[in-house]
Amino acid sequence: MTSSDFETLKTELEPQIDAILAQYPQERSALLPLVHLFQERLGFVTPEAVEYISEVCDVTRAQCQSTISFYTLFYRRPIGKYNLQVCRNLSCSLRGARQIMERFRERLGIDHLETTADGLFTYEEVECLAACDRAPCMQVNLNFVYDMTPEMVDEILDSIIAGTYPVAPLAQSEQPERKVRGPEWSRASRKSAGAVGVPNANNGGGIDQTGRTIAERFRKFGIMPISSPGRMADPELVEGMVPAPHDDTVMEHNY
Ligand code: FES
Repeated sequence: MTSSDFETLKTELEPQIDAILAQYPQERSALLPLVHLFQERLGFVTPEAVEYISEVCDVTRAQCQSTISFYTLFYRRPIGKYNLQVCRNLSCSLRGARQIMERFRERLGIDHLETTADGLFTYEEVECLAACDRAPCMQVNLNFVYDMTPEMVDEILDSIIAGTYPVAPLAQSEQPERKVRGPEWSRASRKSAGAVGVPNANNGGGIDQTGRTIAERFRKFGIMPISSPGRMADPELVEGMVPAPHDDTVMEHNY
């Protein structure tokens, strides 16, 4: 997108921008709605959008960038028209998320945080989506899909490719690179699709730097996790998890 294209977009969006700003006593409170607005039109939050939003919200560019990089639902680089975010956290892992992730990787031929060559799909494994009672789950362009099975992976992909999936594609003002993470970034340094330069994603849940899932940590201490209230974890799934190579030194360090 050229700078004149961006100027045209700003002019077009002016009534909506004014209406959003008018809702808040302080301009900075309009930051998130404005980021949503521009991302919706551009497919990601471009540097021009960051500069403009910082200006109208009276915050620094660093404040705007840090807000955007905090949320996995904002993208700072172009991504595919369909962003597939599969939950890899505890409840979903215990209910078969590993098989779902494997099926997506196999079908798409891409890895976590990568985009297919045709720019249609970006694939991402995310932390808890707060729908643990319907695990395993995922989001397609932020729309939930619950109680996933490997068969549903094929149904979703086939339907998107056929143009019949009931979720609209994201805007795509620029062609995404095949790899959302560039060669200069390590795997652990990228938190979300389209993120740039975010801190280490090794947090309390999901898969840690060693590749160990949180379920394996529980098992180490002889605890049988419960996937959601009143719903015991499937022992076969827990037993079926293949431990990642690690040693106890790393385990001690992580705790
Ligand atoms: S663990 Fe997957 S939604 Fe909470």
